[in-house]
Amino acid sequence: MAYGLLKGKRGIISGALNESSIAWKIAQRAHEEGATFTLTNAPIAMRMGEIRQLAEQTGAEIIPADATSVDDITNLFTKSQEVLGGKVDFVLHSIGMSPNIRKGKAYTDLNYEWLKQTLDISAVSFHKMLQTAYKLDAINEWGSVVALTYMAAQRTFPFYTDMADAKAMLESIARSFGYRYGKSHKVRINTVSQSPTQTTAGGGIGGFDKFFDFADKTAPLGNATADQCADYVITLFSDLTRMVTMQNLFHDGGFSMTGISEEVMEALTKK
Ligand SMILES: NC(=O)c1ccc[n+]([C@@H]2O[C@H](COP(=O)([O-])OP(=O)(O)OC[C@H]3O[C@@H](n4cnc5c(N)ncnc54)[C@H](O)[C@@H]3O)[C@@H](O)[C@H]2O)c1
Repeated sequence: MAYGLLKGKRGIISGALNESSIAWKIAQRAHEEGATFTLTNAPIAMRMGEIRQLAEQTGAEIIPADATSVDDITNLFTKSQEVLGGKVDFVLHSIGMSPNIRKGKAYTDLNYEWLKQTLDISAVSFHKMLQTAYKLDAINEWGSVVALTYMAAQRTFPFYTDMADAKAMLESIARSFGYRYGKSHKVRINTVSQSPTQTTAGGGIGGFDKFFDFADKTAPLGNATADQCADYVITLFSDLTRMVTMQNLFHDGGFSMTGISEEVMEALTKK
């Protein structure tokens, strides 16, 4: 159901790779709620081509940008304002990648060049987006920026290795930049900490399926889906949440506040 929550709003949505991407669902919901926006992803993701279907569905223009390149991000914000006809009201950072995880490196044996890439792609890119927007004065007053994160920033999940460190940094950037951007332009910045979700990035984490089931059995409401995450992010882009900033907001069916559930106890007893 659409409520017109983003009617007249303009935005930038990163990270839609394919139909299972969380950003894909957010783009579809933003369109339903009346927003106009540009889509962006790394040039390599463009070559896979699926993003074009989303662009057609939502009437969005695609502006390729490697999130680690300040030049690309500057072009993204400049072109987006031209295409959309003014400053933007919302920005989604939905970007993450760890070469160490991809190549199966243990946390006790990290390749530090790859660690730099993990941090640059998954965390520093958020600062680059915010700093570029700030310098260009590209976000309207009361605009909203959201980045997606995961609870491994607070608690240890062994398979999440160096992405845990990247997410801790990402959440810290939301607070540090949120303070400054809030004071100067009333722009709010938050991170949404989402349940495990079946996507290309999610599925790349070792033991994902088992952990997905564990989280689902632990959370009193079960795991939050990508569609439900989209609903939540839309509220954060809307004017209904104007005083929420610098927060890390758990969207996980109650997982983060649950110690153990009866279902998990039962599964352990059966063994
Ligand atoms: N899937 C999960 O379980 C889960 C849970 C919590 C948080 N998240 C976070 O949600 C976000 C989106 O991930 P997803 O699960 O939708 O997976 P996804 O694989 O669909 O999205 C990740 C995106 O990052 C993009 N990307 C990678 N390198 C880039 C670069 N250099 N420049 C620009 N874009 C680049 C990819 O092309 C892709 O579109 C990530 O930050 C992820 O950590 C995912």
